[in-house]
Amino acid sequence: MCVENFEVSLNEVFSRFKGRREELIPVLQAAQAAFGYLPVEVMKEIAGFISVPESQVYGVATFYAQFYFSRRGKHTVKVCLGTACHVKGGGRLMEAFERELGVECGCVIPDYQFGLERVNCVGACAIAPVVMVGEDVYGHMESNRVKEVLDKYEKGS
Ligand code: FES
Repeated sequence: MCVENFEVSLNEVFSRFKGRREELIPVLQAAQAAFGYLPVEVMKEIAGFISVPESQVYGVATFYAQFYFSRRGKHTVKVCLGTACHVKGGGRLMEAFERELGVECGCVIPDYQFGLERVNCVGACAIAPVVMVGEDVYGHMESNRVKEVLDKYEKGS
């Protein structure tokens, strides 16, 4: 969704709520679902809608790990660097994704197709090393499959 059009989309988000204080988190969630993250301008508008200070909106939003404050990739690649995955070559996998995507961990590629992140165990240690793309899990992942995995998402959506 285009951030420049946030006012139109925010009106649609706000139309689903009454503007009560207790709706702050659901409104933040709905706004993030609409924009993919929470731009500063959007949080200011939410503060006005809910009738709370902007500082309270920022305080609540920054408290929860579910909220993001910069634009994310359409697909988020998460390379597991927990102990089991690290031992089985998670670090080399991360390097392979960084090479293939041309960005470092924590960054989004220029066309916003992919973002690259690290995680510390996704609970699938038995199939380490593990990589996730969105909700898809790739176990026993190898560096020579990195391009093949990324291609699925570039062509598929
Ligand atoms: S350490 Fe990677 S899934 Fe557990």
